[in-house]
Amino acid sequence: MGVIVLGSANEDTAVSVRRHPGAGETVLASSAGVGAGGKGLNQAIAAARAGASTTFVGAVGDDDAGARLRLALTAEEVGTRLARSDRVTGSAFVMVSAGGENAIVVVPGANQDAEALGREADAAVGAIAEGDIVLAQLEIPIDVVLTAFRLAGARGASTVLNAAPSAPLSDALLDVVDILVVNEHECLDAAGGDRRDVRGAAEALAARVGTVIVTLGAQGALVLSGGDVDLVAAHAVSAVDTTAAGDTFCGALAARLAAGEQLNAATRFASAAAALCVQRPGASASAPYAQEIGEFLAARAS
Ligand code: RIB
Repeated sequence: MGVIVLGSANEDTAVSVRRHPGAGETVLASSAGVGAGGKGLNQAIAAARAGASTTFVGAVGDDDAGARLRLALTAEEVGTRLARSDRVTGSAFVMVSAGGENAIVVVPGANQDAEALGREADAAVGAIAEGDIVLAQLEIPIDVVLTAFRLAGARGASTVLNAAPSAPLSDALLDVVDILVVNEHECLDAAGGDRRDVRGAAEALAARVGTVIVTLGAQGALVLSGGDVDLVAAHAVSAVDTTAAGDTFCGALAARLAAGEQLNAATRFASAAAALCVQRPGASASAPYAQEIGEFLAARAS
């Protein structure tokens, strides 16, 4: 079965800095580059590279950046349903520190064009088949995601929500999510309550959504499903750029679920994909291919 990613597409301008600047401070970058990004586009490319037949549903402006993003997707053999919006194509400004940590500012532009996005999403979801995976994040209007997930569920597809960037999640939305993927901050934000207890927050969310995966960086990923809780170990690697690590995890996870793999095995594959991603610079450019992920897992197992 296939993966349909509904989400944002940005043109990223990334700079490498020794450390992130503080308020009012100017720092010098050692390099700068422009590439295809946006959480949705990154996830679509990660899913395609991980081996899934993938379609990306999003919106771009009628401008050069939009044309470049369209080309980037096509070059990766990602099918596109890209609405052409009156707004400018989304852009993001990414600062990556020497330790690989990023700080990102997004200018959403066309990604917030609910009407254009909704039109494409309706058409795309109307064409999905039972068993497909529909993956979305929250850099686009939440109502577009809610409507698409309702339709996707009714057609027998599974829905995966990566609740990034963090936003309040309504009961109506959680009711139509099959798998929720969050990092620890997003988990605490989504659950409310005690802000120090990630495990408690994950359990509270798992009472509302069938499956919850909490990515914990170097601590691995907590998988809560059907009353079971498993910790999938992380791979110790030296990170040069953590940009799109979460996106790569989600794209690879969706690809393996679409291929019929069980949740824990798919999570192990996704963790390996993220471990490879952080060892390379860039957003979508850093997503690994299925063969590399397989080789990485095999090497770690031996
Ligand atoms: O998750 C990384 C992405 O966040 C970047 O590619 C940037 O465009 C922002 O959407």
